[in-house]
Amino acid sequence: MARAPSNIAFIKYWGKSELSSQWPANDSISMTLDHLATVTCATPDPTLADHTLQLNQVDHKRGDKIASKVFQHLDRLSAAMASETKFHIRSANSFPSACGIASSASGMAALTIASTAAMLAEGDLEKLRQRKFGSFTLNDLARLGSGSATRSLLGGFVQWQKGPSATEQTVSQLFSAEYWPLADMVVVLDQNEKKISSSEGHQQAWQSPLFLPRLAALPERAELVQFALKNRDFSLLGQQLEAEALEMHAVMMTSEPPITYWVEETSQFLTWLRKERVLNGLPAYFTIDAGPNIHVICEQKDRAQVQEKLKNHWQNYRILVDTVGSGPKLKVLGFVPDDPLAPDLW
Ligand code: PMV
Repeated sequence: MARAPSNIAFIKYWGKSELSSQWPANDSISMTLDHLATVTCATPDPTLADHTLQLNQVDHKRGDKIASKVFQHLDRLSAAMASETKFHIRSANSFPSACGIASSASGMAALTIASTAAMLAEGDLEKLRQRKFGSFTLNDLARLGSGSATRSLLGGFVQWQKGPSATEQTVSQLFSAEYWPLADMVVVLDQNEKKISSSEGHQQAWQSPLFLPRLAALPERAELVQFALKNRDFSLLGQQLEAEALEMHAVMMTSEPPITYWVEETSQFLTWLRKERVLNGLPAYFTIDAGPNIHVICEQKDRAQVQEKLKNHWQNYRILVDTVGSGPKLKVLGFVPDDPLAPDLW
C-alpha cells in the first residue's frame, strides 16, 4: 500500500519532445505537497483473470474511459516486472480529481509504487528505488504513467531534467522539504472534471506560435527559480511563478485548437490577488496547472494571514491547505484498510 503526494510545478512541463517515451520538451521544477495525496492498495489474488479497480470507492472495468490509463499502466508495470499476478487495486484521493490539482501525478506515482512493490514482494521503498527493472527505473515507470508523476517520487523541491536524449532523463531533489517551509492553498473555483486532458494539451502545445519562444526563454526562468529557492527569495520566486503560469496558459489559449482551462472566476481571482498584494501587501503569489483552480503560494509564516484573507473574500469556495512534503511512503499490511486515507495509518 503506497501513499504518494501530489506536486505543484513552479516551472511547468508542457509539451513533449517524444510521445512514446514521455520525453518532455523542457525541464521542470516542482514542490512536492504533503496532504494532497493518493493512497493505493494492490492486493494480489491468484483467482483473478484480470485486475480489478476501485477509484474513490467506485468500481471500474477495463475499457471504462476513466480507467483506461490505469489498466494501461498496470499492463506496462506487469511487463516491466515480468509479472503475471493479478491484483485488486483500490485507490483514493484526498482531493477532487482531474481538475488541475495534479491527481495524475499522485495517482500514477502511488499506483507505480504499490503495484511494483506488490509484484516484487518488496516492502522497502528505498530498495525499490535503487533497483533497475530491465532498462527502467522507478522514476521512468512513474513517468510513463504520467509525466508529472515522476516528480512525486521525491520530497521537497524537485527538478526533472530532459537530458540529451529520452533515455537520459533525470529526476533529482534540489532542496529538502525542511529547507524552505512554503504553503500552497488551492482555491477550488470549479471542481468539474476538465474537458481536455493534459495528454491532449501536450500535443496541441506545438501548434501555438508562443511555444518555441517559451522554450527558448525557459532555461533562464528555471535558473531564476533555482536562485530564488536557494536564497529563499520569496518575491523573486513569486514573480517567476506568476509569469510562468500565465505563459503556459497563453500557450494553451493560442494552441490549435485553443484550450481554455480557466473559468470566469479564475481571472477575477488573479486580478484580486495582485491588487491585494500591491495595495495591502498580501505576501502571496499564484500559479495554475492545467485547470481553472488557483494555487496560492506563500511562506508558512504568513499562512494564517493569507488563509484568513482568502476565507473572507472567497467564502463560497473550498480551499485546500497544504505545505511542502517529504515524498511517498510504502507500507505492507496484512489487511486492506476500510479507509486507506485515514491519517493515523500514515
Ligand atoms: O503529467 P501530466 O501529463 O498530467 O502533465 C502535467 C502538466 C502540468 O500539470 C500542467 C504541469 C506540470 O509540470 O505539472
